Amino acid sequence: MEEIKKVRGFQDIYGENAEKYRYIVNTARKIFDKYNFKEIILPYVEDVSLFIRSVGEETDIVQKEMYTFKDKGGREIALRPEGTASVVRAYIENRIFAEGGYHKFFYEGAMFRYERPQAGRYRQFHQIGAELFGINNPLSDVEIISLVKDILDVLKIDTRLEINTLGSFEDRKIYIEELRKYLSEKKENLCEDCKKRLEKNPLRVLDCKVESCKDETKEAPKLYEYLSETSIKRYEEVKKYLKALDINFVENPRLVRGLDYYTDTVFEFITDKIGAQGTVAAGGRYDKLVEQLGGPPTPAVGFAAGIERLMLLVDELPQGEDLIAVIPINDEFNLLALKVANKLRKENLKVELILKTGSLKSKMKVANKLKSSYVIFVSDSYELKDMLTGSQIKYEDLNILVQTLKNS
Ligand code: HAM
Repeated sequence: MEEIKKVRGFQDIYGENAEKYRYIVNTARKIFDKYNFKEIILPYVEDVSLFIRSVGEETDIVQKEMYTFKDKGGREIALRPEGTASVVRAYIENRIFAEGGYHKFFYEGAMFRYERPQAGRYRQFHQIGAELFGINNPLSDVEIISLVKDILDVLKIDTRLEINTLGSFEDRKIYIEELRKYLSEKKENLCEDCKKRLEKNPLRVLDCKVESCKDETKEAPKLYEYLSETSIKRYEEVKKYLKALDINFVENPRLVRGLDYYTDTVFEFITDKIGAQGTVAAGGRYDKLVEQLGGPPTPAVGFAAGIERLMLLVDELPQGEDLIAVIPINDEFNLLALKVANKLRKENLKVELILKTGSLKSKMKVANKLKSSYVIFVSDSYELKDMLTGSQIKYEDLNILVQTLKNS
């Protein structure tokens, strides 16, 4: 029979990779909790128009990368390409804003983008992310950045933090016109993608990786010069707070991000260790998005990190608990071994009941392969073998054996 393969760009995560995945998510969850963010669990599908109106009609995500389909009721549906738009929709739809104060959410889960697959880039990938609504204070930008930094530090992942400010939409409007004028004169030297971007989204030309585009934008007008006093002051505050927390950063005036909803602070945590897809976490403010999606004016800031990219950077998993292999010396002792295994598990020990039938030698082979720290041979008595030292001790009383293991 012909084998069925997984769909291109999709992945099976198992074995050590699944352990890394869970370790990353658990670490992030602990830190979200320390910062008092609350979980929000959202649908994987949304109305297509949500992403058109938030991520932006002219972005790559909306133009080329969304998985969309009509459901049986004729609704235009998209598999979510990112989490922020859904959190904002939920914030508005559930009238969370009406509770007053500000709100802090975190989420984890799959996102879908029809991109060209390569190392660190998949069509289904997973993000952990957080969003903070209702506060414009620059402290909130820094809380988010500091939270990401804490996650990366615990995971022992070394990155460079790049920051920039995009100002308000109003500041940007004038700038974009100036930039368009400037780049129009250089049009022949821009790559094909940038020629199109020039019309629809000239800001994106600034972070094009093609050399000729980089050259042409070197002398281009700088966004910074078009920002309002308020935006500049805000940015200075953010930098001051980051310095105070000893969070190193570099300013990158070309950092514009690929989603349209950003205002003021944007940031990316980048590594050079995993090739071209080096951005492991990214985010920024989006002070107009809630309003754009029909909610009350609500400033907001957030980030998302790609779990698969973090997995490429986690070298070592913390040492797990000791594994105890329970082996009935022959079939006669199967039932007793089953009881022993369950008793140990109830005592909070980690146990593999060796299920293989056959010779003792073949059972030991399984225990070895599983890297068991201890083996208990079950017969009329219990023999505990320490796999590291090779020492073997016989116990008549199971309770004494349990105590020994718990104290080890
Ligand atoms: P984003 O930059 O599109 O931002 O994605 C955030 C992170 O998701 C990236 O830095 C990367 O680690 C990971 N990622 C993106 N696409 C892929 C892919 N195809 N394969 C593997 N990993 C990928 C957002 O999604 C915004 N919602 C972040 C945000 C939250 N801004 C404010 N709040």
